[in-house]
Amino acid sequence: MLKISFGALTIAGVLALGFAGFRGAKTELPHVEWFNDMAHQPKEQPQHKSTFFSDGRSARQPVDGTVPIGFNLKGRYFQTEGNNLVSGHGGFANQPDYFNTGRMGDVYGDGIPEVLAKRGAELLSRGQERYDISCAICHGKAGQGNGPVKAFGLMTIRAVTDEPLRAQPDGQIFNTITHGKSTMGAYGPVIAVEDRWAIVAYVRVLQKVAEGKLAAAAAETKPAEAKK
Ligand code: HEC
Repeated sequence: MLKISFGALTIAGVLALGFAGFRGAKTELPHVEWFNDMAHQPKEQPQHKSTFFSDGRSARQPVDGTVPIGFNLKGRYFQTEGNNLVSGHGGFANQPDYFNTGRMGDVYGDGIPEVLAKRGAELLSRGQERYDISCAICHGKAGQGNGPVKAFGLMTIRAVTDEPLRAQPDGQIFNTITHGKSTMGAYGPVIAVEDRWAIVAYVRVLQKVAEGKLAAAAAETKPAEAKK
């Protein structure tokens, strides 16, 4: 009995599959798609014709007052000297120099590029603001790797104050921000070059603070004695 019903089920299954057709198979008839994996979505593709909008274009004009990434209402954020967009320095430039990559030839360089380093406190407060916006959600405001995202399950988040990261050259941290690292995504496409450096400088501050706290706590650690 069991054998018969199993056989019947297999035949029914094969028939149903044959009837529905396979994805990718050539046929004149419309496919029956049981699981279409969101292959067809009611959405506009970039650079495609639209039948939805009256002007026939899928792309929309940004609304008035839209501020592009890397700009604020007064112009470019944290602009370095000169016209960056023309000289290929900063913004979202993709030049092979240290300023844009954190690399010096085949190795990482160390240090903040001079045009930015000389802005001192301004660079750090910019870095703090950008870090709090872009990184703290995962790495935590103090860089301890305990931001809210961790509570929601991204368990691999590291403390940026970790000993090995303190020893990394600035260029390597810049590179991590730009391209991400294993389970961390890339932030290069959304954080301007100057701002990435500002964040690197601020990560150094967090590391110094963590180090200082540890040293201070260690100095305060005394042998136990009865409390009077
Ligand atoms: C969505 C969460 C998330 C955000 C946002 C995020 N990170 Fe990370 N970050 C991670 C995770 C996860 C790792 C650990 C990657 C691994 O080794 O698997 C990591 C690792 C790192 C490391 C160590 C890389 C190494 O060499 O091991 C640094 C430095 C770092 N992040 C800096 C930053 C900075 C600076 C920002 C802000 C621009 C940032 N991260 C934003 C999740 C995040």
